[in-house]
Amino acid sequence: MAQQYSKRRSADKARSTFMLLMLSVVLVFAFGLIIGKQANDIHQAESVQRSVSNVPKETTAPTESETSALKETIPEEEDPDFHQASSFWSEDAHIYLRVSHEKPLRLAAEPDFDLSDMIYGVSDENIAAVDENGVIVGLQKGECVVSVFCNQETLRIPVTVRELVVRDGCTYVDDILVANKTYSLPEDYDPGMHPETKEAFEALQADAKELGLDIYEGSGYRNYQYQISVYRSVCDAYGEEYANQVSARPGYSEHQTGYTIDCNSINDSFSNTPEGQWLAQHCHEYGFIIRYPAGKEDITGYAYESWHIRYVGVEAATEMYEQNLTLEEYLDIVSEYHPEEEETEAETELIEEEETEAFPEETEFTEPEYQDYDQDYDQGYDQYDNYEIDPPQEITDAEIPDQEEIYSEPEEEFMDAPLIAP
Ligand code: DAL
Ligand code: ZN
Repeated sequence: MAQQYSKRRSADKARSTFMLLMLSVVLVFAFGLIIGKQANDIHQAESVQRSVSNVPKETTAPTESETSALKETIPEEEDPDFHQASSFWSEDAHIYLRVSHEKPLRLAAEPDFDLSDMIYGVSDENIAAVDENGVIVGLQKGECVVSVFCNQETLRIPVTVRELVVRDGCTYVDDILVANKTYSLPEDYDPGMHPETKEAFEALQADAKELGLDIYEGSGYRNYQYQISVYRSVCDAYGEEYANQVSARPGYSEHQTGYTIDCNSINDSFSNTPEGQWLAQHCHEYGFIIRYPAGKEDITGYAYESWHIRYVGVEAATEMYEQNLTLEEYLDIVSEYHPEEEETEAETELIEEEETEAFPEETEFTEPEYQDYDQDYDQGYDQYDNYEIDPPQEITDAEIPDQEEIYSEPEEEFMDAPLIAP
């Protein structure tokens, strides 16, 4: 009995020891699991922390593949979102600037995105340079891509650097002939309408006709001498301040380039006609731009002219249309007249003309001079019958910069001209 009892006790003891051992094993395992998980959590938290705190330069600096991507030139078929990253973007789809000119990148971002820690790069350092503030300077004519890195996102913006050259008194920017308030044409530059302008306009007219639209030439080529009469007549009718908003001084008119046509009636109402609306939407397909668009008067220097189109070729016209740019913005040029800085040949000529030949001092407007003018008119400018000049009150001071400084000749200088076209 005692022996049996002793055996049971030994068996119980062995079972208890085994159970205790098992419990310890389970406890150690469970403890190990908890510790392990905590360690893993801590490790993960540290990784997140590290990746957040490391966002600046080390992780956003261009990688090797990004650096080689920087060497790419502008893609042939430009991605419309080329200038967009998911959190930030460039206000300009394409930067156009001239050699020695600079332009700041205009970046914008989602509200909580920090734009302060950007890294800039350029694909070709011979063409342009970009400083730490994102200001781009043109170094040499050509094309490159500026890249912006931030928060592991990359933005690429195509840059075109242009060159202005003067040949035989004419100003060209990348082979586009320029005439505006700043850049004039020589008096003897008299090319007539260029064949490419004519051909493009004929194609435009033909396609418009198929849609039942009648687009015709209201005014085409105007040489220097004729622009004297045009400008003077507007000054005479409405005063020089208004004239400078709608009419170019001789030598400064785009009509003298041979690349310009005024369509249909020279009147603001044209913009609301089916022809005017179609022209605005489609003229770029034929290589033309609406040269003086609404809302850009302070850039072009002229009031909105829905009828005045300028031939620049399909590629340039389409780029300007798609990016809503004027020729001034596209070529990085200004259109301003500062009479206090220089008296130009054109102005001298205009004054001489007024004082001597056609309108001699102390002479009232006389019949023979009127006859002379009429002969000119009959000999080649009868298309000006279409002109209807809009009254001055249609242009507000808010839309047009103060023109007083732009032309300061006394009003008497512009008397006695017959009324024709702007
Ligand atoms: N009407 C435009 C500005 C011109 O005279 O050329
Ligand atoms: Zn015109």
